[in-house]
Amino acid sequence: MYFGVDYYPEHWVHPYAGTPEAPESRWEEDVQLMLEAGVNVVRVGEFAWGLYEPEEGRFNFDWMRRAMDLFGNAGIKVVLGTPTAAPPVWLAKKHPEILPVDERGLVRREGTRRAYCMNSGVYWDYTQKIIRALAAALGKHPALIAWQIDNGIGGHHTATSFNEETRYDWHAWLKAKYETVERLNDMLGLNFWTQRVTRFEDLPMPMHSPTGHNPALMMDWMRFSSDTLVAYMRMQAQLLHELTPGIPVTNNLRALWRGFDHFDLAEVLDFVSLDSNATINTKSAELACEIDMMRSLKKQNVRTPNQDCGFWVIEQKAGNVNWQAVNSLVRPGVVRLFTYQLVSRGACGVLYFLWRQPRIGPEKFYGGVLGHDGSPETRAYREIKQIGHELKTLAAVLKGTCVVADVCILFSHENDWNLRYTKQPNQAFRYREHIQLFYTALHDRNIPVDFARPTEDLSKYKIVIAPSLSLLAGGEADLLKLYVQNGGTLVSTFNTGLVDEHHIAPDSGYPHDLTDVFGLEVREFDPLPPGEENHLTFKAGFPSTHLHPGKLWCDIIEPKGCQVIGTYSKDFYAGKPAMTMNEFGNGRAIYIGTMSHQQFYGDLVTWLRNLCNLHPLLKVPDTIEVSMREKDGQKVFFLLNHQSSPVRLHFYKPMHDFLTGKTFTGSYDLPPHGVLVLDEQPEPSHAPPANETAATTPHSAAGPA
Ligand code: GAL
Repeated sequence: MYFGVDYYPEHWVHPYAGTPEAPESRWEEDVQLMLEAGVNVVRVGEFAWGLYEPEEGRFNFDWMRRAMDLFGNAGIKVVLGTPTAAPPVWLAKKHPEILPVDERGLVRREGTRRAYCMNSGVYWDYTQKIIRALAAALGKHPALIAWQIDNGIGGHHTATSFNEETRYDWHAWLKAKYETVERLNDMLGLNFWTQRVTRFEDLPMPMHSPTGHNPALMMDWMRFSSDTLVAYMRMQAQLLHELTPGIPVTNNLRALWRGFDHFDLAEVLDFVSLDSNATINTKSAELACEIDMMRSLKKQNVRTPNQDCGFWVIEQKAGNVNWQAVNSLVRPGVVRLFTYQLVSRGACGVLYFLWRQPRIGPEKFYGGVLGHDGSPETRAYREIKQIGHELKTLAAVLKGTCVVADVCILFSHENDWNLRYTKQPNQAFRYREHIQLFYTALHDRNIPVDFARPTEDLSKYKIVIAPSLSLLAGGEADLLKLYVQNGGTLVSTFNTGLVDEHHIAPDSGYPHDLTDVFGLEVREFDPLPPGEENHLTFKAGFPSTHLHPGKLWCDIIEPKGCQVIGTYSKDFYAGKPAMTMNEFGNGRAIYIGTMSHQQFYGDLVTWLRNLCNLHPLLKVPDTIEVSMREKDGQKVFFLLNHQSSPVRLHFYKPMHDFLTGKTFTGSYDLPPHGVLVLDEQPEPSHAPPANETAATTPHSAAGPA
């Protein structure tokens, strides 16, 4: 288990720390304080280019080597950044063509980070030069265990640019895809507004224009931009693999919403890392959803420094951020709670952003482990020290354990781009919100969830949930069909299969290529304004705990052999199906034609549990989040109290807590923001069978379900 901080040695030299005689003397004190907090890894150097190469070709890595020596001698490992996220000013001055151009044709200027265009051949060359020099100087340092390539790739809206070199690459990309201009025109649907071209070179980039660009063109533009970004990162990764074989590479990602395909990027990386804003957004199910999305990016060929199967959190906030309207302090215990949430969902490395509040630059009022004064007498330092020591005791228990899920939610970036960048029937509809409704229902019942793209092998999942795959490629639809045919349970919804990968609407009914799987056809759909509702009536067998509304979108469904589970009760389609189920091959396909409130999805999960024989991890009160990591049948349960009041648990089987060493039986009040890390206590041979020791209230009891 790696536990550490993001450290900027360049912030802590004279005149900001140290003395004129010993400008780097503060580093030693920092190393000492880190050791006391249980730190065994630091990330450094991701913005250090301007100091490594203050003038073109004049390199100086000595200062970083001295810092790495200090860490190495103290037994602290190092993740070293390639510094390409912050090109030096001299480079932009010499080669202004590297600066990114925005959709209005304006240059985004030098002087901050991320001011470069990923299609720039010049920038590729300089990237390779600095990486070669860095790897030659520090790549064999004994403390080095991983590279972070670039930083926050695609952040600050830099996943796309509109430079002349971009235009050139765009046309090459289109030529490779379509081969002939005829096919380009046909597949992009350029008969519409007759925007046909006679040469690839005339196809525009989707720059600022009187109205929205052709959606098929927009989709290709996003694919091309994503491929560009991934190619740039692949170049860095391949170079480092060649220069420093055996040292894995990673990048710090945010949960899926930057403008590139995160699954594609994960293929380039040896392991995935994430930036977590967990201490700011306190909605636990939303945070859990993002963590599970990130965990799911890379399911195979994971190569972490400690050979674990999980992911890293390379920037977990140690306190407040600086970009909210009001940056309130993070309450005691909350950083610890969210650290455990990350660990419980598979993290095998956690580093805090950042070690000490910088005295310089735009991020000086971020909450750090230490404050501006550098004293360890801070709440954050004490809390992190506690976590550091706890994780040391958990490391052996967690070694090699992974999160295993029977349920999968599908997510596709192409679909997300389609929903975000092309005209939609209902602008109030949010893909993320729709996913969250399903996720929260599963999360609140302690059912583990993976995410996957529709092209992955889904055969291991009992249930696949595919919310609003509006853009669905023909091949993806075929794979879903195969999944059901082979015995899977597929749950799809309104806004599915409205267009194919060329953004062409079907002439064979919605959802395209899947009407047989669902045994229905969607004839029309009725987007509703926010606040307006239909009502749903369910057949016996569906456990309705509330009156469920239909919101934002109502599909008008023509059943063609499916069983009707629920109907609309209002408007001209009253009595028509709103929810259906169809047996297909060895499996079943469930279709939900509308969006509802959270309680509906809770009922849906109860119904699906019975249908598919799914079990929650533990039976605990709803407000407790439970996750599990397992290895060879050995299970480690994490119980997290997200409330600021205690929650009573009842143990009907003895369970052992690794954090306190105690064994719990009977009732226990989990304190506000409290955490338990449990395994089942092996029962002594003379003990009565488990069912005789069960507590009287099994529904609120902590015990295997
Ligand atoms: C991260 C970035 C850091 C810092 C941080 C602030 O995404 O990598 O350098 O800016 O955000 O939250």
